[in-house]
Amino acid sequence: MENAKKVILSGIQPSGDLTIGNYLGAIKNWVSLQDDYDSYYCVVDLHALTVRQNPAELRARTLKNIAIYLASGLDPAKNTIFIQSHVPAHSEAAWLLNCFCYMGELSRMTQFKDKSQKLGESVSAGLFTYPVLMAADILLYNTDLVPVGSDQKQHIELARDLAIRFNNLYSPTFKVPDAYIGNVGARIMDLQEPQKKMSKSSENPNSYILIMDPPDVIRKKISRAVTDDIGVVRFSEEQPGISNLISILGAITGEKPQEIEKKYEGIGYAQFKSDVAEAIVEELSPVQEKVKQLLEDKPYMESVYKNGAEKASYVANKTLRKMQKKLGLIPR
Ligand code: TYM
Repeated sequence: MENAKKVILSGIQPSGDLTIGNYLGAIKNWVSLQDDYDSYYCVVDLHALTVRQNPAELRARTLKNIAIYLASGLDPAKNTIFIQSHVPAHSEAAWLLNCFCYMGELSRMTQFKDKSQKLGESVSAGLFTYPVLMAADILLYNTDLVPVGSDQKQHIELARDLAIRFNNLYSPTFKVPDAYIGNVGARIMDLQEPQKKMSKSSENPNSYILIMDPPDVIRKKISRAVTDDIGVVRFSEEQPGISNLISILGAITGEKPQEIEKKYEGIGYAQFKSDVAEAIVEELSPVQEKVKQLLEDKPYMESVYKNGAEKASYVANKTLRKMQKKLGLIPR
């Protein structure tokens, strides 16, 4: 058999500095899956272009994301790590799939609805069709599993629908992928407004913790995190702020929310918050150290993403050729 292991693909946009939401909701799961799957992890720079980017910052963040993937423990010998725009098949397949996706489907995407509300008339067509590019990312690799945070579930459902539609109209071409959403950390909330998802595009830096935030900044942000006046460390809807801190701690230590509740019986928020902050600092410090080293080693970084693009292109091009042929495009 050409490929015995099941295939994983996932990606993160370099549209802002990565947060512990990205780390706990996505990257940490990727690392734990790397031995059992044939995995493709990309930095989706084309997706970042759906909102205006500063070119120099986009370049720097794209490289930083690659460094973060590696520093978090993704082994380039086991995983294909690449930059989305280095594999042109993604853009080409996205166009083809665009011709099979309905305006109605894209209008129902909650992420588009949220973002377009903020941007009004000036929302780009790219932002509207962005889930189709994401579907191309996934479908080109015969992906079985897409490990993401829960906010991406709807986009993966669209990728499934497009795969099924294309397969039915022509003949089996795509694997129909499943989302893989971890039990803990799948939805880390905003530290200031815990009803909202933590987001790298938030305007208030106190609302998120960045993977690269220095220890003192992490401690300050956690101590300022919004809680409540109930005074009990409990995982409940009534206490969204405290529940979020429990989720963060649990995603780092592997403890279940109930175990954490028990451990903090009779203990105040100040001690709890301080323990959460220390757990984050301890988790992120070695990653930060490694990121700094990697960013100084340009030749190594380049070898990783060039190699990755080469391996990814081979698989992606094969699927793209299949699509083109079935659609009636003349082979080159
Ligand atoms: P993006 O860049 O917004 O987020 C990257 C990953 O981080 C997860 N995530 C979170 N998880 C838990 N709590 C949070 N607060 C949180 N914020 C973000 C996201 O669920 C995601 O897994 N469209 C995607 C990128 C993408 C992609 C793909 C993903 C493009 N093509 C193909 C998978 C497969 C996005 O914007 O993610």
